Formats: sequence, C-alpha cells, structure tokens
Amino acid sequence: MKIKGNGEFPPGFLFGASSSAYQIEGAYDEDGRGPSVMDLLQREDGMADYKVAADHYHRFEEDIRLMGELGLKAYRFSFSWTRILPEGNGQVNPEGLKFYDKVIEMLLKYGIEPIVTIYHFDYPQRLVEQYGGWRSRQSIGDYAEYASILFKHFGDRVKYWLTINEQDHVIHLPERLGIRALLDEAEFDRISQQCSYHMCVATARVIRLCHELVPGGQIGPAMNPMIGIPASGKPADMLAAAEYNELASYYLLDLHCKGMFSPLYAKYLADRGCFPEIEVADLEEMRRNPPDFIGVNYYMNQTVQQSPADAIAPRGTGVIKREEAGIYALTSNPHVPESEWGWGICPAGLKMAIMELFSRYGLPALITENGLGDRDELLPDGTVRDDYRIGYLSAHLKELRDCVVTGYPVIGYCLWSFMDVVSGHDGMNKRYGLVYLNRNDKELLDLGRFRKDSFHWYARVIATNGAEL
Ligand code: BG6
Repeated sequence: MKIKGNGEFPPGFLFGASSSAYQIEGAYDEDGRGPSVMDLLQREDGMADYKVAADHYHRFEEDIRLMGELGLKAYRFSFSWTRILPEGNGQVNPEGLKFYDKVIEMLLKYGIEPIVTIYHFDYPQRLVEQYGGWRSRQSIGDYAEYASILFKHFGDRVKYWLTINEQDHVIHLPERLGIRALLDEAEFDRISQQCSYHMCVATARVIRLCHELVPGGQIGPAMNPMIGIPASGKPADMLAAAEYNELASYYLLDLHCKGMFSPLYAKYLADRGCFPEIEVADLEEMRRNPPDFIGVNYYMNQTVQQSPADAIAPRGTGVIKREEAGIYALTSNPHVPESEWGWGICPAGLKMAIMELFSRYGLPALITENGLGDRDELLPDGTVRDDYRIGYLSAHLKELRDCVVTGYPVIGYCLWSFMDVVSGHDGMNKRYGLVYLNRNDKELLDLGRFRKDSFHWYARVIATNGAEL
C-alpha cells in the first residue's frame, strides 16, 4: 500500500514566499550602494537588467501591505551585500542597514517571520577587483565579517538565516563569480572548484557565528538539489543516476553537513586536476558546524542515463553539466511534462528530495523556493488568470503535506516568488509571482502591482493552514 499521510500541516507551519534583493529592489546606485557582479551582467539584447527591477526599494511598504493581505506567515528575502558594505568589506553604509530595519519592522508588524538570505548571487564587484573574489581564501573572512555585521544588527529580530543561495548554481556560472575572461573548461573547473571550497569553509564559519551571535538563531544553506532518477530499469542507468547524485546533488551537502568529500567526488576532482587547495582544519570546522536545516529550492529533478565510455560530452558551462563523459547523461522523460523553458514539472520529485535529504543528513528542510515560470497576461480588468500556476503549486503542496504528516521535519514552504521579479535567465518574459508587476523587458510602464488568481488561491491555502489545496 502506498503510504499517503492523511492529516494537516502543524499549527505554525511557515507558509511563505520568496524574493531576492537584486531581482526586486532596483535603486542599484542609490543611498551609497556599491556595485555587484549582477549589476555588470551583460544581458541578452533587449532583456531587462536589474537597475530598476521591481522598484521594491521605493515601494516596499506597498509590497509588505500586500504580504499582510495575503496572510503570509514568512517572507524570505535577501540582503544586498553592497547596500550594507559598498566595497564588499570595510566601511558599513548606515543607509543600507536603515533600509532593512524598515523592511523587518514592517514585516514584524504584520506578523510575518523574516527569513534572510545573506548572499543571493549579488557578490560585491569590488571584492573581485581587490583579490579575485571567491577565488581567494581572503573571501572567507570578508563573507564572515559581513555576516557578523548582520547577526549583530538584526539578530534580535531575525531568527532564520540562509547562508548562500544555490552555491551549486553560482559556481557553474562564470559571471556570477565575477569572471569575465574566456577560460577553457579545465581552467574554469579548477577555479570554480576552488571558489566552491572557499564557500564551504565560509558557510561553516558563518554557521558558527550565527550560533554565537543570534540567540535561538537557525541557519542553513539554500541548495538546489535536482535529484536524479534512472531513465530505465537498466542497472547501468541506475548506477549512472546514483553517480550523478553523488557528483551533482549531494557533493556540497556532504561538505556542509559532514565535512567530507564523497569518495566519488574526490576522485572526479582529482582525475580532472581540479581538487582544490584545502587545509585539514577546514574540514574539522565544517564537521563542528553543520547547518540546522537544509534550504531546498525545488523546481525540477533530472532523469539520468549512462554515458558511454567513449562519449564526448558537449562543452560549456551551465547550472548543471548535462553530461559527464563515461559517467552520466541527462535525458528527457516522457512522463514528466516540461515548461516552455524545458524545466521538468514533477511534484513527486519534491517529496523525493525531502526524503532523500532527511535520510542522508537527518536535518529538517525549509523549502526556500518552488514555483512555475510562465508568460502571464494582465487582462484589461486588472486580473491575471494563472490557473496553470495554481495547479503547479497545489500539486507540490500536496506532496509536501504528505511528507509533513508522515513525519518528515519541514519548517516551512516559501514559494518563488511573492511578486514578479526580473528572472535570472529570462528577464520579464518568465514570471513566477503571485503579484503581477506591470513592466516588461523594454518598458517600465507604471510598475503597478496586480493580484493574480494565484494570490487569492494562496491566501485561502494560508487561511486554512493548508487544508484547502
Ligand atoms: C533560482 C534562483 O535559481 O531560480 C532565483 O534562486 C531564480 O534567483 C529562480 O529567479 C528561477 O530561475 P529563473 O532563471 O527562471 O529566474
């Protein structure tokens, strides 16, 4: 018999929504903010950049009022590192602290739990100029210093913290590391693995600082595990899926949670000449400072088949390597429908991820992102009929409820995104929000906010504590 939980979300379950600073704030050069690597990103022709984004910096009061109306129990957002430290290190900008003070005070007034991501893609450009950013070990101290400023200033009001958003994503995209030179693949892999390792050490240090400086503080990384399932029952495909998971789904969490390189990952790095320079004490620091929970950004899983020994994998960087010659190759799955952008839609994968992560690391999950990107249309009467998004969210929440009532510890669910934001890869074409943002790639229009059908649906979900999905 298939185990399906009949029950409810526990009282106090954190039904929330997410955003990130560079995707909504705008005001990129106001009140002393310094440049981040995302400000300098070359966008494809005509695609929105982040200079104005959703203009949340000037309209946060209107936005938080909408969050209050929605009934959000939690709001996950990120601090812009360079609003607080314009150079990435050194002098603090009081205007930056003041802005987030106002945001947090207002959230608390509405009874909304703030969940803060310390760093979500917008790495300080000046640190790249000073010493190469994450490539240098110096980056660990600067990230820890930035985080401790946050813990001391906001720790009386913010209890939930996320260290780095999608490290597994950042390290595969050169521009997010501030690397603009064209590097060959081997060179990039070497640099990227060193950056990743520094991020792991930095994560452990910041977890320790959070526990020292924030009374009752809880902290974890926001990961993007795309768990692989085998393309067939062939043992070779099953092994390929298992190896893919070691190399692409768990390799960082093994460091964060256990302070160890999985043997397969270590061999993979050594074979390619990109095993990072490490200090043994670092691994001990990781072991002594595991996260309190795992933040899970779940959009899709992957279907995996064997890659033949003589395969030549396509070159190129991307969020994930589509093929590792002789190990695994990602493939499409006729049972998993895809969005226009090729993202598989597989609600069961959310349950699989929660179960897998819990049995491997024994930590609670906090769902930090989950949502559907689509081309929404604002109708003349000011409505947006996004029943496709409601279907997506409802199906995922049902799987989540199964997990929770079965007994898997889950702290909350923050869908992506509270409002439309400038998409990381697709500008304003691809929208995720419950609130429609009236702008497009080319024109800012009036930047008005309009409640989509999914807004009203989610309000009902929250009001019934998830009984009505
Ligand atoms: C996650 C990021 O990778 O996915 C978000 O944390 C991002 O910042 C989201 O917006 C969706 O990706 P995209 O590229 O469709 O905007």
